[in-house]
Amino acid sequence: MFEDLKIPSNLKPSDSRFGVGPSLIPVEHVKNLLETGDKLLGTSHRQMAVRNLVKEIQEGLRSYLNIPKDYEVVLGNGGATAVWDMIGLGLVEKQSHHFVCGEFSEKWAKSHKLIPWIKTKETKVNYGEGINPVEDTDSDFIACTLNETSTGVKLTEMPIIKNPHTLVGVDATSAAGQMEFDLTQSDIFYFSPQKVFASEGGFYVAIMSPKAMKRAETIASDKSRYIPEFFKWMNAIDNSKSNQTYNTPAIATLFFLNEQIKLMNKLGLKEVLKQSEAKAKFIYDWAESKSYLSPYIADQKFRSTTVATIDVEAKYPVEGLTKILRAQNIAVDIDGYRKLGRNQFRIGLFHNISLDNLSKLTQIIDLAITSCK
Ligand SMILES: Cc1ncc(COP(=O)(O)O)c(C=O)c1O
Repeated sequence: MFEDLKIPSNLKPSDSRFGVGPSLIPVEHVKNLLETGDKLLGTSHRQMAVRNLVKEIQEGLRSYLNIPKDYEVVLGNGGATAVWDMIGLGLVEKQSHHFVCGEFSEKWAKSHKLIPWIKTKETKVNYGEGINPVEDTDSDFIACTLNETSTGVKLTEMPIIKNPHTLVGVDATSAAGQMEFDLTQSDIFYFSPQKVFASEGGFYVAIMSPKAMKRAETIASDKSRYIPEFFKWMNAIDNSKSNQTYNTPAIATLFFLNEQIKLMNKLGLKEVLKQSEAKAKFIYDWAESKSYLSPYIADQKFRSTTVATIDVEAKYPVEGLTKILRAQNIAVDIDGYRKLGRNQFRIGLFHNISLDNLSKLTQIIDLAITSCK
């Protein structure tokens, strides 16, 4: 259907990467890595060059995210997926309560369900809808996903916690750095850095409250629970305190993460949020203005400002268009989440994806659809 599409050169985006993660790593950052020559890559993560880099990341995040002084910035390998298991094994005492609105929040719940000595409760809405977490009296851990990457739904309110024993966990993988969040409302706020923070995968950052660290310590002392060394919070926390990780990290990942933190710290969170709001407004206004498009998330307040999901009228199969845009390296990774199975674009609004390029992408999509009418 879209085979004859000719894209004028003035509409070609300066960078083809619009994906929601792994996301656009600025080429400039890759060049900066090259410039480190023999000083960083291939050196020991227990020595100062890498430890200083880890320290810079921790301090950079402290200032960018306004992290409370008594919270720890914990780093480790395995990404958010490993953190799900680490939380189930080492932070949930008896029961976690999951607020599920898409594939990732569901996967987190599933990872806890497999642990026989804890219980798991789920409050679930249909995909495409949003849900805000609330406290309940039976659960000692509230699990919520700040931005559900599969559907493009964000949380709008955090729970009011009355029981001092309740911990709040926030999967902020596709939100951290680009969504306003008061960290005092969470006990563990974690993310993988291949989204807003434009680094590589396989790594996590977990910002932990004193309460969460105390819980980790208490559960670790319960000898009836077997926790593999790799998943032990105390290993991660102790190493992070000395600017290290429990096992060997990918140094390039640390480097790119730090470059992005520096870039965003130059602007400050407030300005980054302003730009992100402007891009979200632009993309949803566009989707609402065209008869062949509609925002997947009907309730405006739940529409993500980092991941936009846009439904397309069935008679224009997006798969044909995304294939052509990929083949010509015009735009890559704008397909909907595969398991949702919708005729949909899912477009990253991350900090490095410019409004100008988003505008070009929307014009290309309009051109493609209107030319086949
Ligand atoms: C919200 C959310 N949580 C968790 C994950 C899993 O992250 P990782 O693949 O880095 O383990 C993802 C990945 O896209 C995500 O979007």
